[in-house]
Amino acid sequence: MDKFRIQGGACLNGTVRISGAKNAALPLLAATILASSPITLSNVPDLKDVSTLIKVLESLGITVQRDKTSGSVHVDASTLNSRFAPYELVKTMRASILVLGPLLARYGEATVSLPGGCAIGSRPVEQHLKALEAMGAEIRVENGYVHAKVDGRLKGTRLSFDMVTVGGTENVLMAATLAEGTTILDNCAREPEVTDLANLLVKMGAKIEGIDSDQLTIHGVDSLSGVDYSVVADRIETGSYLAAAAMTGGCVRTTHTDPRLLEAVLRKFEEMGATITSGTDWIELDMRGKRPKAVSFRTLPHPAFPTDMQAQIMTVNTIADGTGTITETIFENRYMHVPELSRMGAKIQVDGHTAIVTGVETLQAAPVMATDLRASMSLVLAALTAQGETILDRIYHIDRGYEHVEEKLRGLGAVIERVK
Ligand code: UD1
Repeated sequence: MDKFRIQGGACLNGTVRISGAKNAALPLLAATILASSPITLSNVPDLKDVSTLIKVLESLGITVQRDKTSGSVHVDASTLNSRFAPYELVKTMRASILVLGPLLARYGEATVSLPGGCAIGSRPVEQHLKALEAMGAEIRVENGYVHAKVDGRLKGTRLSFDMVTVGGTENVLMAATLAEGTTILDNCAREPEVTDLANLLVKMGAKIEGIDSDQLTIHGVDSLSGVDYSVVADRIETGSYLAAAAMTGGCVRTTHTDPRLLEAVLRKFEEMGATITSGTDWIELDMRGKRPKAVSFRTLPHPAFPTDMQAQIMTVNTIADGTGTITETIFENRYMHVPELSRMGAKIQVDGHTAIVTGVETLQAAPVMATDLRASMSLVLAALTAQGETILDRIYHIDRGYEHVEEKLRGLGAVIERVK
C-alpha cells in the first residue's frame, strides 16, 4: 500500500493550478445518461473516483473515451444496454447512486446497489428515493438493491427535501429534466457543484429556473442533446492549498479557480491574519511568515462553511495562536483525523459534534493513518509543519480526490515522496 513520507519544516511558496472539481465531475458524468447525442466534458480531474464512475457508465454499456492528459472525457450514451449498477462498483464510491435518477428518467427503470454507510457517517439516500417516488416511480429496496420503475415518464411534482442534500438535489434535478410537467424542489442544496450540474443541463436543453437558490423549478422536456462543457474549479482543492500556505507561513497563489466559490473559507483565512488577494480566476494567500490566529466555525450547507474543509482548517488551528471551537453539523462521525492529529501533539478535545482546538507551538512527526479523503489532506498539512519525518499510511483515500497531490505540493516546495 502506498504511503507518503513527508519532511516537515518547509515554507510553501509559489503557484499551483487547481483541477476541475471531483464533486462536479461525478454528477456531470451521470448526467450524460440523459443525452441523446454524445457529450464532451473537459477539465475532468484524473482521480480514482472519476475512474470509478466511468466504470459504472461502461458497465451500463455506455461508450467512454478519456484522455487523462488533456482532461477530456467523451461520452456516447446511445450504446447503453443495461440499467443495472452492481454492488461491486457502487460500494467503492457512494456517488454512483447518481445514475439512478437519469436511468429512471430516460429509460423508465433502474436497478442500483444501495451505497451503504461510509467512514464519516451512515449517509442514507432515503431523500433521493422519496422524491423519485413522489414523481411516480415505484421503488422497492431488496437484497441491498434499489429497484425503480415507472410506467411511461416520471411526473412533475412539488416537494421539499427534509434536509439539505447535495446528492439528493442532483439526482432529482436530473430526473426532473425529462419528466412530464413541472417539478418544484424546495430546500435544495446550493453547492457550486449543483449549480455546475444545472448549467450543464440547461446547455443540453433543460428548462431550469432558480439556479443557485434553494428552490429549483424544472419544466420537463422531451429530450436533451449532447454538448461540450468544462467542469467548474475544485473549491475544496483550492482551500486545501491555501491552508497549506497558512499552515507553513508561506504565500501560495491558486490559479484556474474562482474566489466566489469559497467566500466563507476565505473569510476564515483573513480572520487567521492572512492577506488574501484575488482576481476572477485566481486567489493568493500570504501568511508573511506569521503564526495564524485560531478561528471558530460551524460546518453548514453552502454558502456557509463547508464540511469538506473542516479537517484542513482544524489542522491550521492545531498550530495557531489561541483556541478555536469547531462544530460539525453535516456528518455525525467526521472527527477521525483527531486521534491522528493528537498523536502528532495537537491539543484537541471533542465533545459530541464540537471540537475545541488549542494551538501548540509545533507538532511532532509520527506514523499516522489516513481515514477518509479530507482527513488525509489534513494529515498532510500537519506533516508539512511537524518536526521530523511523518509517514502517512493509506493514502489511497487522498488519490480519490486530489489530482497529482505530491507533484503539486513539491512544486510549492514541500518535501514529500510516495513510497511503497
Ligand atoms: C456531497 C459531497 C461530499 C460533501 C457532502 C456535504 C459529492 C460526491 N460529495 O456528499 O463531499 O461532504 O455533499 O457537502 O458531491 N442525508 C440523509 N438522507 C439522504 C441524503 C443525505 O440523511 O437521503 C444526510 C447525510 O447522511 C449527511 C447529510 O444529509 O449527513 C448531507 O449529505 P449529502 O449532502 O447528501 O452528501 P453527499 O451528496 O453524499
